[in-house]
Amino acid sequence: MLPLGSGISLGEGGTPLVESSLSSNLYIKFEGTNPTGSFKDRGMALGVTVARESRAEKVIVASTGNTAASAAAYAARAGLKCYVLLPRGNVARGKLIQAALHGAEIIMINGFFDTALRYVLEHGTKYAYPLNSFNPWRLEGQKTIAFEIYEELGCPDYVIVPVGNAGNISAIWKGFRELGELGLCRKLPRMVGVQAEGAAPLAVAWQRGLKSPLFVDKPKTIASAIRIGRPINWPKAMAAVEQSGGLFIAVSDSEIAEAQRLLASRDGIGAEPAGAASVAAALRLKVSGTVVAVVTGHALKDPDVIEISVREIKDSRELLLLLEGA
Ligand code: F0G
Repeated sequence: MLPLGSGISLGEGGTPLVESSLSSNLYIKFEGTNPTGSFKDRGMALGVTVARESRAEKVIVASTGNTAASAAAYAARAGLKCYVLLPRGNVARGKLIQAALHGAEIIMINGFFDTALRYVLEHGTKYAYPLNSFNPWRLEGQKTIAFEIYEELGCPDYVIVPVGNAGNISAIWKGFRELGELGLCRKLPRMVGVQAEGAAPLAVAWQRGLKSPLFVDKPKTIASAIRIGRPINWPKAMAAVEQSGGLFIAVSDSEIAEAQRLLASRDGIGAEPAGAASVAAALRLKVSGTVVAVVTGHALKDPDVIEISVREIKDSRELLLLLEGA
């Protein structure tokens, strides 16, 4: 089910599937435990392996941050030069630091992710091997999320996935379809794509019964990973949701922040805002049956947002006085 070969790997995948206390039959597939802290590592391992096998010396990505961090790490491992195009002022600090630490060349562009991706598509591919999710190998790697869910749980009733450029939901659906073709999943899960209200080209179109997205020029949300107005993989994502009998939904920034807080304080799972969006959707939808929410990235990626959401840090002066022996 996967192309084999001696590939570049940092031990990606094999992430925990944890039962949540926030709702009955809700499971969290926590992708924050991947080597660079997001699901991107699954696809990057394969993408970078193919880049090296095709004798590329340079790779390039546009990114809201996680793809950049992942590409930088795997390129470093493979001895390839890595260029990352990031939207200035729209990337979480942890991700920027990762890309720099792993030695990527960082190009800050004016505009949003969508412009950075356009630059890669129009010109970047002439200079370097592109590793954005229009590269099919990325999705081949990411479909392993479906295989791992199946191994532990069988086929759930719903799989909820945060949607930005719409690659991951397409990849996971491909994974489940392949399980179905092998006779392993009798009933395939309904795929639920989650976007943030201010960056919801697919969810808004879905609500209005449209078959194509209503692109957003200035996407706005605290979940910078999915601050995307023109998802390139929208046809595949639309097909995934339609074929599976699922839906797209938009959640508000306050629902995302609340889900992030609940996940952290009740389940012990630290998610970045985009990752918590799937849990926000699960809490809103309250569907019956087995539900897997894919929590796509680690809390440490975006410390600045967390500082805002836990501003009421409890002051333990009393305990301090006890410890000091006063
Ligand atoms: N969650 C996180 C934490 C992400 O980083 C992304 C995408 C998504 C969800 C959405 O996945 O794009 O496949 O629909 N981040 C990309 C990046 C865009 O550049 O890191 P998608």
